[in-house]
Amino acid sequence: MQKIHAAITAVGGYVPEYVMTNAELETLMDTTDEWITSRTGIKERRVLKGEGKGTSDMAVEAVKQLLEKRGISPLEIELVICATTTPDFQFPATSNIICDKTGMSNAFGYDVQAACSGFLFALTTGAQFIETGRHKKVIVIGADKMTSIINYEDRTTSIIFGDGCGAVLLEPNEEGNGIIDSVLRSDGSGRVHLHQKAGGSVKPATVETVMNKEHYVYQEGQTVFKFAVKNMADAAATIMERNNLTADDVAWLVPHQANKRIIDATRERMGLSEEKVMVNIQRYGNTTNGTLPLCLWEWEKKLHKGDNVVLAAFGGGFTWGSTLIKWAYDSE
Ligand SMILES: CC(C)(COP(=O)(O)OP(=O)(O)OC[C@H]1O[C@@H](n2cnc3c(N)ncnc32)[C@H](O)[C@@H]1OP(=O)(O)O)[C@@H](O)C(=O)NCCC(=O)NCCS
Repeated sequence: MQKIHAAITAVGGYVPEYVMTNAELETLMDTTDEWITSRTGIKERRVLKGEGKGTSDMAVEAVKQLLEKRGISPLEIELVICATTTPDFQFPATSNIICDKTGMSNAFGYDVQAACSGFLFALTTGAQFIETGRHKKVIVIGADKMTSIINYEDRTTSIIFGDGCGAVLLEPNEEGNGIIDSVLRSDGSGRVHLHQKAGGSVKPATVETVMNKEHYVYQEGQTVFKFAVKNMADAAATIMERNNLTADDVAWLVPHQANKRIIDATRERMGLSEEKVMVNIQRYGNTTNGTLPLCLWEWEKKLHKGDNVVLAAFGGGFTWGSTLIKWAYDSE
């Protein structure tokens, strides 16, 4: 009997309507479109506007689309894992809120927090529930409203991030397609270079922490850049090596979109040509957990059954990894 793999069988996505261009950032801080474009590859990013709107509101749109595409009822979903760094609230889990808002009332849900690698970690986690044979329909979401923790007086972080969400449905596959392998890593000593200073149990929110702007993303850009380039490329190269894949065997690289230069370094390490790399950084910037599933969503029609698709990410913590998927379906 063939091993049960967890296969992605549908993808949903959502980006907010509001487009924040580099030109708008020029009006808010001392920067230029030229600097941002040449240093990061980003031209614009999306912002979720509206009083009371949070991460779950984007996820709801992505999930509804995914259920409609697959033609299934929300009641069929057994588990929902939401990877997010900007949950609606400290608690309850954002996945619970998503389940409530979409009518997935037979599902249990929880969140995964691994910064920009969260979607990869959640995907691997969700896959286990399918591979054991215990669950048949699991939704994995990557969603972030990064603009809720961005300081628009800090020109080194604010230019990078944007809001967005993607979601995938995992189902059992016995044809050998699905999630094949993952290399996942964490190194907590990297936390000093990329984190949010206040709002957790170590430093709860006070008037002072707010005045000191400690609830925003803090990033030492250059240091993070160096670790990201090395580790994301290493992880992608490892996944190729241990699955005996040459560059010709890889149909697509789906890289985390934090900086075009990091994407290029990973692509070069893998020996891939540019046409095989999903890049939408110019339109969305870094949507943290939203990034990888948003790429799959945008490229879904170009993916074919049997394609080797390599995902790679790096994020705060530090966390990083790479996952190999044998794509399970043709969209058309
Ligand atoms: C943040 C990042 C874009 C900054 O680019 P960089 O080339 O490293 O730039 P530096 O921080 O070295 O700054 C270089 C100069 O540009 C200036 N600068 C920084 N941001 C600027 C901006 N938005 N506009 C204009 N100038 C800017 C700096 O002040 C510095 O000036 P100085 O030399 O006079 O001191 C880059 O480091 C990066 O992408 N880091 C990794 C991000 C990442 O992968 N995060 C992990 C996942 S979230």
